[in-house]
Amino acid sequence: MEDGGLRFEPLGSHHLPLRRRFRCGDETLDVYLRSKRAWQDQAQDLAAVWVIHDPARNRIAGYYTLSGFYIQRRLLPEEHREGTTRYEEYPATLLGRLARDLEYAKQKIGERLLLDALKRALDAAGVVASYAVVVDAGAPEVEGFYQYYGFERLETEQHDRRYYLPMASIRQLFQ
Ligand SMILES: CC(C)(COP(=O)(O)OP(=O)(O)OC[C@H]1O[C@@H](n2cnc3c(N)ncnc32)[C@H](O)[C@@H]1OP(=O)(O)O)[C@@H](O)C(=O)NCCC(=O)NCCS
Repeated sequence: MEDGGLRFEPLGSHHLPLRRRFRCGDETLDVYLRSKRAWQDQAQDLAAVWVIHDPARNRIAGYYTLSGFYIQRRLLPEEHREGTTRYEEYPATLLGRLARDLEYAKQKIGERLLLDALKRALDAAGVVASYAVVVDAGAPEVEGFYQYYGFERLETEQHDRRYYLPMASIRQLFQ
């Protein structure tokens, strides 16, 4: 997917020199990309790392990670459990990290990162099933971003700000 010259690419060796300039305002997410963690996670099949590359400025404008995950059926609201198979755990896709560089604010890069991630998760779910995309909002002020795109809260002991979006809703989004 490509728009305005920015393009989505899997994290590659040609991006490595560009990482140190990345700054999204969340230190943990900056360090993840700038350190060798992102590169190692990808090499060890622990996370697929996608960057949005700006060839004009040779910068990384943003990135996200996707990994296999699961959610417990009992945590889903009644309306999402009704009539569904009683497996204890459902397969899911973790959108583990999502961040755009501060220099690309107010350019809808966050939206593009999220929609690209959802589309990739949907395509992958056609090969290996996934019931939903799960995110852990890093900070309270980011919850609004995911709620804005229809993500619903998943009450769990595992994370204070966990949200999910059923694949059925994502499929509708791209129809
Ligand atoms: C969260 C983040 C990715 C959003 O990216 P962005 O480029 O600012 O967002 P966009 O400009 O694409 O915004 C798209 C829409 O979401 C809304 N939105 C963005 N951030 C929001 C927030 N925190 N709360 C509520 N709505 C938000 C925007 O108002 C916009 O709505 P509009 O279409 O009505 O104009 C970005 O702020 C970021 O990288 N933050 C630091 C890292 C981080 O916290 N990532 C999330 C980790 S879980």
